[in-house]
This record gives sequence, C-alpha cells and structure tokens, in this order.
Amino acid sequence: MRLSHKLKKLVDPRLLRSMRRHTGRFFLTRRFVFRIDPDRIMASIDQQKFRAIHERHAVAEPADAPEKYLELRRWVETNIRRVRELELDFGFRKRMLDIGCGAGYFLYICKWLGHDVLGLDISESAMFTEITNLLGVPRVIWRIERYVPLPELGAKFDVVTAHMICFNDHKTDHLWGPPEWNFFLEDLLRHLRPGARIHLEFNREFDGTWYTPELRDYFAGLGAEIDRHRVTLSAARLA
Ligand SMILES: C[S@@+](CC[C@H](N)C(=O)[O-])C[C@H]1O[C@@H](n2cnc3c(N)ncnc32)[C@H](O)[C@@H]1O
Repeated sequence: MRLSHKLKKLVDPRLLRSMRRHTGRFFLTRRFVFRIDPDRIMASIDQQKFRAIHERHAVAEPADAPEKYLELRRWVETNIRRVRELELDFGFRKRMLDIGCGAGYFLYICKWLGHDVLGLDISESAMFTEITNLLGVPRVIWRIERYVPLPELGAKFDVVTAHMICFNDHKTDHLWGPPEWNFFLEDLLRHLRPGARIHLEFNREFDGTWYTPELRDYFAGLGAEIDRHRVTLSAARLA
C-alpha cells in the first residue's frame, strides 16, 4: 500500500471509529489524529438545520446581543482558539463543565475532540437551546446565584471553564466580590477531581475593568495565574 493511501486511511473517520472500538477511547480520538480546523468543524454541523435556526433568530445588527452567536464561522474560530489556549486539543480525555455555555460551540469542539462535556446555563434564550440541541451539547439548566450551591452535576470534572462571565451579576451595581467568589469556588471544589483546573474569563464592566483590585488580590491569594481578563485556578491550590 502506498504511503499516501495509508495516510489517507489513517484520518478516515470510519477507520477511526473502528480503531476506537478495538483499542478503547484513550489512544484514538481526534485529539491525536486530526489538527482542528474551522472547515472540518463547520462541516460536522448540519448546515441546513443551522440555517433554519439562523432564519428564526437573526437580527439586522446584533452588536452585543446574543444573536451575534449566529455568526457560526466567527465563533467556531474563537472557540478553536480557546480550546488551543487551554491545551484541550491533545492529552487525556477530560470531563469538562462550561458554565454559561451559551450556544455551546466551545463544548461542541471539545466533544468533537473526544472530551466528556456538560454545559450549564439559564434557559432564557430559545436560540441557545436550539443551537445546543443541534450540536448535541448536554446542558444543565440552572441559574447561578450568590451563596446558592450548584446542583448535582454527575461525575466530577477535570476542567471547569466560564467564558465571558455574566453570572457574577456582570454590569450591575452588585457585582460579585471576594465573599461571593469564595462561596462559589468552595462549593465548586466538591465537583472537582484533585488535579482539576478552573479557567475564568471575565467580561469588562462599565468602567472598562474586568475585576476590582480587591478581587484580583483575592485570586492572587489563591495562587491563581492572572492574565488580564483570564484567571486560572487549580483545585489542588484551592483545597
Ligand atoms: C456573554 S454569554 C457567554 C456565552 C459563552 N460562554 C461564550 O463565551 O460564548 C454569557 C452566558 O452566561 C449565561 N448566564 C448569564 N447569567 C447566568 C446565571 N446567573 N447562571 C448561569 N448562566 C448565566 C447566559 O445565558 C449566557 O449563555
């Protein structure tokens, strides 16, 4: 068999499925075989069904409204970048929770890569419900509120993410501070495996900042890595 044919066979999804059946999920997932690229992800989404959702919900100038998430290519690219930055495109299969998962693109790509994913979100947006259903991204419908523990979420997680966070009473006069975050993180710990990581990505508040100096000091005191709007915590340090 010629090398080019062998290589072609190596990335044939049917072969991949059969190898997975025979060797187990650990070795042969897309994480090890494919380089993620937007076209491949786009091609894996039913475009006809996506267009129907687009037709139902699109608005002329979405600006910052949720309808901006109907720009599929833009958000697939954004989320591929997130996946790469968090180094989820290789390595062990992870159990992942994405809080405020929105349309579910991030988790869809993670699932495509073979990770075991769960989203958590409120159910206010019919568009998010339709897109997550189309993508087959499982969700728990739950509103995060200050000093209220999370619901039961099944198996513990290796990675927890929250991108463009709103559940912290974003853009209100009662934005979460260290006490609310402390309650939230302590409660989250019971859902984490020992080596777990938590990646928080903050939204800008009215004054253009992502968090107060006080909150920054609080995260720094927990041993967080802080990179502008991104805060990464490790379960081991939190515990
Ligand atoms: C700015 S969107 C970000 C969506 C997605 N994480 C992303 O980056 O593409 C904020 C998300 O948080 C969800 N959300 C807002 N308040 C919430 C709350 N109290 N509890 C859970 N989810 C919430 C919204 O429904 C929405 O999906």
